[in-house]
Amino acid sequence: MRVLLFGATGQVGTALNTRLRGAVDQIVELVTPSSAEVPLTDAAALEHYIEAQAPQVIVNAAAYTRVDDAEREPDVAFAVNGVAPGVMARVAQRHGARMVHLSTDYVFDGTGSLPYGTEATPSPVNVYGASKLAGEEAVQRACPTAAVVRTAWVHSGGGVNFVATAVRLLGAGTSMRVVDDQVGAPTHADTLAESIMRLMHPAAAGGVLHVTDAGVASWYDVACCVLDTMRAHGRVADEVTVTPVASGAFPRPARRPVVSLLDTHATRQRLGFTPPHWRDGVMASTRQLLGL
Ligand SMILES: NC(=O)c1ccc[n+]([C@@H]2O[C@H](COP(=O)([O-])OP(=O)(O)OC[C@H]3O[C@@H](n4cnc5c(N)ncnc54)[C@H](OP(=O)(O)O)[C@@H]3O)[C@@H](O)[C@H]2O)c1
Repeated sequence: MRVLLFGATGQVGTALNTRLRGAVDQIVELVTPSSAEVPLTDAAALEHYIEAQAPQVIVNAAAYTRVDDAEREPDVAFAVNGVAPGVMARVAQRHGARMVHLSTDYVFDGTGSLPYGTEATPSPVNVYGASKLAGEEAVQRACPTAAVVRTAWVHSGGGVNFVATAVRLLGAGTSMRVVDDQVGAPTHADTLAESIMRLMHPAAAGGVLHVTDAGVASWYDVACCVLDTMRAHGRVADEVTVTPVASGAFPRPARRPVVSLLDTHATRQRLGFTPPHWRDGVMASTRQLLGL
């Protein structure tokens, strides 16, 4: 199998890259172009590159993920998140390649109280969400058999994520005030890597899938879990605390969905895989970040 992985330096890309390199019996060749080598802002060069690589599987873990910056750089966000995935899907369809694309809970407005099913109507509240929705639609239009995996609140033992920020601040002795009125499902990058491995198979399910770790948390819950884990390992000063606050305390350029939950039941059945509880994932990332 010849696999072309975009975004191999990101959180999900790194976790997947590690797994793919460990599965050398199934992988003939893994190609991981960097963002400098193949910038996703250049659609024509991207198409030319994929054609030359002739992959059997394309995994798109690359994205413009800086939610607040996207508000002032909508053109770049839409080029990377909206247009480039469609180019990949077009080439995949032309050559009968399998495509797995990652998307987000931020395609929804998060104004309800129940988890969104895969058939729910998207209604993004910020530029990032709108650009990711454009990407989903472009992929499905160009390659109807592609798998579009929506996920949420991704974290890992590296990269830029909330768990890493909390470990850094708490470890430096800084008490944190953290919002407790936005809820979601914190998801370890390894959960996504495992799911994508299953979806790369030519006979695997296509269409929209929802993959997150199990359970529900606020950002405050996540910070408390990080603090508890650090305390258990003696890696935080006694006086350091985490205090809940309303999101109004931290105005940000991009609006966020309030109840950002994806219904994952149908996907779990299709993949034959039950992700861990979010606490286990957050504890794992914290330990990785502490080098334990
Ligand atoms: N992070 C979250 O909380 C979250 C939540 C829901 C869904 N998702 C989705 O999950 C997927 C993976 O997210 P992640 O957190 O693993 O992302 P990430 O850590 O931010 O990594 C993004 C990747 O995309 C690459 N990239 C960015 N701009 C590019 C460009 N112009 N050209 C080529 N490559 C570019 C980056 O390359 P460089 O390292 O060279 O910049 C990096 O490899 C994305 O589709 C994201 O939308 C993420």
